[in-house]
Amino acid sequence: MRIDILTLFPEMFESPLSCSILKRTQDKGLIDIVLTNIRDFATDSYRKVDDKPYGGGPGMIMMPAPVFDCAEYVQKLSPEKGRVILLTPQGQKFNQEKASQLSKEKRLVLIAGKYEGFDERIRIGLGAEQISIGDYVLNGGELAAMVIIDAVVRLLSGALGDEDSPKDDSFSDGLLEYPQYTRPEVFRDMKVPDILLSGDHKKIAEWRRRQAIERTKKFRPDLLKNGVRTNQNHARQDSNLRPTD
Ligand SMILES: C[S@@+](CC[C@H](N)C(=O)[O-])C[C@H]1O[C@@H](n2cnc3c(N)ncnc32)[C@H](O)[C@@H]1O
Repeated sequence: MRIDILTLFPEMFESPLSCSILKRTQDKGLIDIVLTNIRDFATDSYRKVDDKPYGGGPGMIMMPAPVFDCAEYVQKLSPEKGRVILLTPQGQKFNQEKASQLSKEKRLVLIAGKYEGFDERIRIGLGAEQISIGDYVLNGGELAAMVIIDAVVRLLSGALGDEDSPKDDSFSDGLLEYPQYTRPEVFRDMKVPDILLSGDHKKIAEWRRRQAIERTKKFRPDLLKNGVRTNQNHARQDSNLRPTD
């Protein structure tokens, strides 16, 4: 997979991309992340990429020409046409399902905004999909791009030590993940549930499924509004589940 990031602050990506799973997946050649500075496409000697809003009002707006030129240049860097995503608080809210969809693409082009956001003609002209990482306003799209990349990359085959890791993750089948324990068996009078020490894998799987449902009802009842989906890990159908009060 190739991910192009169009940004005014490529240096913001240095640290997140140079450690842990994001570094490993790049080293292994599973992912190629390419940063392009939108400012390199400014047309004047001041390298200006923003201007005042027509009609007045606070702040500055990202001008269309540098973003268009940058996006057109970047698309030509690889024969695979990228799925263009504009990062904006006005976009469709990012979630695990969207991460899974995006992880199946061969190429993504993420455009990070700054200032008071994009001139509207950027959205219209590029025909870009808009994605938000939540109902709050960040200073720029860089952190949003990093969130998306991080969530997408862990779903790529070969990214994690254990291929099965993401299958039980929270949200992967509409539930929160079951509670997890590691050593020691007893910590400050809190004991690991006996079932997890039993070695009975069938019973453990059933217990985990029940726990996942219970904690979803308790902490995120909104996830159960449409019943519980099942994935290949879970043979049982829990379609009558509804959130409890
Ligand atoms: C200060 S924000 C602009 C917000 C804009 N004035 C509005 O109210 O919709 C600057 C940039 O940060 C990014 N951004 C801010 N919040 C975001 C969010 N929740 N999700 C994705 N990107 C976001 C976008 O790229 C945006 O263009």
